[in-house]
This record gives sequence, C-alpha cells and structure tokens, in this order.
Amino acid sequence: MKRIAVLTSGGDCPGMNAAIRSVVRTCLYNGITPYGVESGYKGLMEGRITQFQNKDVANTIHKGGTFLRSARSDEFRTSKGQQKAVENIGKNSIDGLVIIGGDGSLAGAHELCTKYSIPVVGLPGSIDNDIYGTDLSIGVDTALNTIVTSIDMLNDTASSHDRTFLIEVMGRRCGYLAVMAAITAGAEAVLIPEIKYDLEAIIEKIRQRYATGKTRSIVLVAEGVGSAYDFGKAFALIGGFDTRITVLGHLQRGGSPTHFVRSLASRLGMEAVRQLMNGKYDVMMGLQNTSIVSVPLDVVLTNKKTLDPRLLEMADILS
Ligand code: F6P
Repeated sequence: MKRIAVLTSGGDCPGMNAAIRSVVRTCLYNGITPYGVESGYKGLMEGRITQFQNKDVANTIHKGGTFLRSARSDEFRTSKGQQKAVENIGKNSIDGLVIIGGDGSLAGAHELCTKYSIPVVGLPGSIDNDIYGTDLSIGVDTALNTIVTSIDMLNDTASSHDRTFLIEVMGRRCGYLAVMAAITAGAEAVLIPEIKYDLEAIIEKIRQRYATGKTRSIVLVAEGVGSAYDFGKAFALIGGFDTRITVLGHLQRGGSPTHFVRSLASRLGMEAVRQLMNGKYDVMMGLQNTSIVSVPLDVVLTNKKTLDPRLLEMADILS
C-alpha cells in the first residue's frame, strides 16, 4: 500500500475534517502517500485528486463541514460513472481508498470493492445515526448538542408565553436525533418515522400538563414523519394551544465538532488506514461499545439500524 486517497461523500457532517486529517497523518506516519479527492464520487469521476502534505490538514480538526467538499452523485450509480472513477484511480496509482459518508456512499464503496476489486474502507459519517454496525456515526454528537442548545433557547420563550412549540429536527428515516433530544432537553412528546403516533392522545397529554401548571410544551418532530407545520395546525385546531413552529434544518449539520466527534473521527480514520495496510477492505470501521471494530460492508448495507425501544420509553417516562 503506497498511495491512499480519502474522500467525503453525501451529506456533510461535523467531524469529516477530523477524519480526513487522521487518514492523512496516519498515512504519512507509515510512509504512505496520502491523496485527497474533491467533491466525493463526482470529483473521483472527474479526476480531481491531489497529493496531500502534512500541512494541508493543519488547522482543520476544529472546523465543521468538509474542506474536501462533498456531493451526492447520481452518475456514480451508473456503471459508466463507476468506470470513469476506476480509470482515475488507476491513472493516479491509488492503492486504497477511505470513503467517509452515509448509507449511499458506503454502498458506492462496496461496489468499488466487489465489482472493480478496489480496496476501500468506509467510515460512517451522517448526523442521522442510521448506519448499521456502529453505535454512533461521525457528526451525531455535535448535531445533538446543537439541537439541545436550540431547544433550551426555545424553552425560554415558550415558557414566557405558555406556548406549545413543535420543533422539527433532521432524520430522514430515523428518529434517533428526535428521541435523544427529547430525553436530554425535555419534551412532552416525540414523533418519529419508526413508531405509529396517536395525535389525539398526545394533545390530551399536553392539555393535562398545562392543567397541572406546566408553562410550556415541547413536541419534537423527526422530519421523516412529516412536517412540523402540518402537525402544528392540528395542535392549534384540536388542542386550542398557542402554537409555534421551528424547523432547525441545516443548522444541525454545521458547527465545530465536539470533543467526542473529533476523537471518534480520529480513531476511525487511523484504523481505516491500518485495515488497508493489513490488506483488509470492503469493511466499515465502526464504534461498538467503546471499541473500534471492522464490519463487512455487506453486513452494514443489508441490515437496518433499529432504534432501541427503551430510549423511547425513557423519553416518555421523563417527559
Ligand atoms: O442524511 C443526512 C441529512 O442531513 C438528513 O437528515 C436530511 O434529510 C438530508 O441529509 C438533507 O440532505 P440535503 O442537504 O441534500 O438537503
């Protein structure tokens, strides 16, 4: 293994820079020449590949986003697109790739390995925490801190006016962010795509809480279950509450990575390079309990990460 390239793909997340930095510096430490691919698979198909020096990753660990930039590419899903990428890998004599991204990006990594015999190791990067095989993905902890801080602020104004706030958080198919924020910021209810909800029962619960002296209500809505604006209309109409809506949106994807995310990204990046050096690929590095483990990409991609029902129960008990 003489040359390893790294790329970030799909939705960005805080900690991607820390992972790139770790891959680059681990390569240099082991006498491997590191390369960076701009704009994910799109850049790989266009041959935007440059050699990295140590200084190229200096002053990046604390920055959100990805300085390599990212993209979602439909062309890479086609075999024509993949062949272009493989050609550029060959032209630059790249021996191995580290791909940081979500489910779609890891599926691309698996195809490069299985269809074209390119050694690739994937790293889980997505704030949604929907990737099987890792307890937490890069970026999740930072997003949760942003969400919790935002809810704390909304709480101040909500209690001053006895209002009901519906707060929409990210999570396309997964309610992890909503449930964890409900537990740690305090919410009366949480609506997520994984669980059927009973709107009337939630409205009744909120009514009772107001009757016992509560001065505000917070309802967290994971984007995958529907729009907070639509739910808000029902809460105002059926419940008669003074309702306000806040959609946190892409705010949740930005910001300086937390200590936990920097540490996780650094550990995963280092282990990815070690796997490639040991001739192991078609795997994703993940966090299980407190250890970094390698999980075959086909296992990652054919299993669905499920939400622990005890978390949902906890959110309800503590509400
Ligand atoms: O997958 C991460 C995520 O942030 C989802 O939570 C969200 O639905 C999606 O990406 C938004 O994607 P985009 O930035 O392309 O609009």
